[in-house]
Amino acid sequence: MSTILVVDDKASMRKILQQKLGKSGFDVIEAEDEDHAVECLKNNSIDLILTDVRMKKPDGGIELLKITKRDYPYIPVILMSAYATVPQAVQAVKDGAEDYIERPYSIDALMVKIEKALQKRHLIEENRFLTEENRLLRDELHLRGDFTDIIGKSKRLQDVLDLIRKVAKTDSSVLIQGETGTGKELIALAIHNNSARRDKPFIRADCATYAEGVLESELFGHEKGAFTNAIRERMGRFELANGGTIFLDEIGDISPQTQLKLLRVLQDKTFERVGGSRPITVDVRIIAATNKNLEEAVRKGTFRQDLYYRINVVPIYLPPLRERREDIPDLVYHFIKKLSGKVSNRIKHVSPEAMELLINYEWRGNIRELEHTIERAMVFADGDTILPEHLPLSKDAIINQDIPKSGTLEEVEKLEKKLILEALQQSNWVRTKAANILGIKRSTLNYKMEKHGITSPIDDSNE
Ligand SMILES: Nc1ncnc2c1ncn2[C@@H]1O[C@H](COP(=O)(O)OP(=O)(O)OP(=O)(O)O)[C@@H](O)[C@H]1O
Ligand SMILES: [Mg+2]
Repeated sequence: MSTILVVDDKASMRKILQQKLGKSGFDVIEAEDEDHAVECLKNNSIDLILTDVRMKKPDGGIELLKITKRDYPYIPVILMSAYATVPQAVQAVKDGAEDYIERPYSIDALMVKIEKALQKRHLIEENRFLTEENRLLRDELHLRGDFTDIIGKSKRLQDVLDLIRKVAKTDSSVLIQGETGTGKELIALAIHNNSARRDKPFIRADCATYAEGVLESELFGHEKGAFTNAIRERMGRFELANGGTIFLDEIGDISPQTQLKLLRVLQDKTFERVGGSRPITVDVRIIAATNKNLEEAVRKGTFRQDLYYRINVVPIYLPPLRERREDIPDLVYHFIKKLSGKVSNRIKHVSPEAMELLINYEWRGNIRELEHTIERAMVFADGDTILPEHLPLSKDAIINQDIPKSGTLEEVEKLEKKLILEALQQSNWVRTKAANILGIKRSTLNYKMEKHGITSPIDDSNE
């Protein structure tokens, strides 16, 4: 339903319009002069202004037009003019008024003008919305493409996927917790793509990247003049996500003020833009994610408990990769396939030794780190197989460091080769550094590399 602001100093005229427009299904708000009208604009969501030209001030309507064009450029203004003020009204249309109507007029003629103006406004709004939406969706597009498969047969991951299928059917708020790189964003997108909202926007907001204040305006938008750089009004991500899903990434990082505002959106689906006071209502599903321990933040008092309960309706915990190592081989081959166009078409296999390294590694950066490691290995490898020397995995993080307490000389040789490779990878194949790590001279390292048949994957002949 559209809301029309009727501005006229004569109460009787306002009453008539109130009745007629009300009958045609419009919400009508009345104002007796331009000052009162500006108040109404601040506190309500107005779709069209119908104003007298001459009020207490002889050009009160023109003044209101100017203010509207400046602060609410998308709200159409139709002027009602008496014969004497027609020249003013004509000029006003040149200055940006949508239209004018001369008194006395038939209500039907007025209705045609109103409908036309509203239709036009609707198209413009839709266009603006689509432009903004496009911009944001372009960012998301690569993610959408990625979604086709969430890899992992482990019970831990399968349990998560079962939960996602269930929660996708609902509108409940979801909180995804997990270490960095465990796939929180991927899972959030999967929930959206499997929900009834899948054809509506999935809008992401990274709460950690914006400075305080900026985040508020990113989320809720701002009115013109809300702060120094707010040259024009702007929709926030909540408005853009209307009908769809908003993904609040790193929610543990938001300020108390924004927490409070979020709480209100969760409670009443209503908020105001920064610098504005008219309430905006949206229908948005909230999925939040964090790699912090929110429960602890609540205990410490840095995160509101009431907000935590609102968000954490369905908690999803993504286990770190090292707790589901059985997924690693599938993930490795998934990334080889995924990256084959981008990095190298040659790589087809992973040697058993390399796979063993990958399976036993700590993966503090979880799946993202695994993906990057595979990408690097594909760049390094010359043949069609990823070998241990293509994996620059840091020595400290390899578990199963099975240093033999006793053993054959052959085992010692193997261990030596392993330590040399690790040192080289750790130092990005800069031999001087690697020798330092190993506590040997560079010349000794050269000799040992030759003995073990280790060649550098990069051209280090100048080194
Ligand atoms: N189960 C999975 N199968 C395939 N790819 C995955 C899986 N989980 C994560 N990925 C990939 O790993 C990378 C990291 O995932 P994502 O960005 O979702 O992690 P995150 O938990 O949001 O990380 P951060 O906390 O650092 O933001 C992405 O490229 C994603 O596509
Ligand atoms: Mg993320």
